[in-house]
Order: sequence, then C-alpha cells, then structure tokens
Amino acid sequence: MCLVPCNAHHIMKEQKFEFSFDVYDNIDELKENDRDLLITARDATEKSYAPYSNFHVGAAAKMANGEIVSGSNQENASFPVGICAERVLLASASSHHPGVPIETMAISYQSKYMNSDHPISPCGMCRQALQEFESRTTKPIRLILGGMKGKIFVIASASLLLPLAFTSEELK
Ligand code: THU
Repeated sequence: MCLVPCNAHHIMKEQKFEFSFDVYDNIDELKENDRDLLITARDATEKSYAPYSNFHVGAAAKMANGEIVSGSNQENASFPVGICAERVLLASASSHHPGVPIETMAISYQSKYMNSDHPISPCGMCRQALQEFESRTTKPIRLILGGMKGKIFVIASASLLLPLAFTSEELK
C-alpha cells in the first residue's frame, strides 16, 4: 500500500556522492615535500593560542608561487570569536599573496588531554571557506591530514569534504 502519493516512487532518482583518498601508515611514507609541509603544520601547533580548549591546531600551506604560509587556531574568552587554524591560514595567504592558489595544505594538532595519533579533518565552517578559496583561485587544495604521529590521509581537493555546497554561484 502507498503511504505517500504514489507517483513519488516513479519520479524519485537516487544520487550518490563518494570519493577516494589515500591513507599512509606514517609520515615516513610521504614524499619529501609533503613530509616537510606536515612537519611545518606540526610546528605551527606551538603557535596556537588555545587556553580554553587546550586543543592546538596547526596548518601549513604550499602556495603556487612557492611560498609556505602557516596558521594556528586563535581562541578568545568570548568563545565564538576564536578562529580555526585553517581559516587563519586562508586569511593570511590571501592577505600576503592575493589571488595565489594553494596547492597543498597540511593540518595537524596536539592536545594535553588527547593523543595526537590520528588525522583530524576541517570543521564545517572551514570546509565552506576552503571551498570558496578553491573556487576563486580555480585550483584544488590538496589536504594532508595527520596528528603528531600515526596514519595520514591525503585528499585531492578540500571541496570533496563539502558535497552539495552552497557557493557564490547561487548569488549570481
Ligand atoms: N579547530 C581548528 O583550529 N581546526 C579544526 O579543524 C578543528 C578545530 C580549533 C577550534 C578550537 O580553537 C579548537 O580547535 C577546539 O575546537
């Protein structure tokens, strides 16, 4: 028996979103440039200001002009004012090198309460910011995600993490 209007069964089409990414067992398996970038992201965790969460995130990007830009999370007593490492990096990259694409961004973290032994992935707000940075520079941002040790994920484009994104196209 039909519990919803019967023609709904006939007009519905399923769509699927899926993507693949590379998983490495540890940093030694990465190529030298990627290894260096992840090390720079790990080092950037030391520059984080995170007295409230004690979760220190570092990000490092290799830009298309060869420059390396880094960022770290910067918190505030008024919690929502805090900014994630990824968006600190994007703002810095765009301010110092306007219009220059980011080729690869590495993200790492450390915390006094948790082991940094697996990758973390950008929050939803950062995914939105990464997507727009990619689209305005017309180049994918490759992501290297890894803790201070352990497995590493390499994702070909940050936008893969934000299917069905709301984009600037909608405002044209
Ligand atoms: N944070 C980042 O900087 N990047 C992420 O990808 C996840 C979360 C920060 C925000 C906040 O300062 C702290 O980590 C805990 O959420």
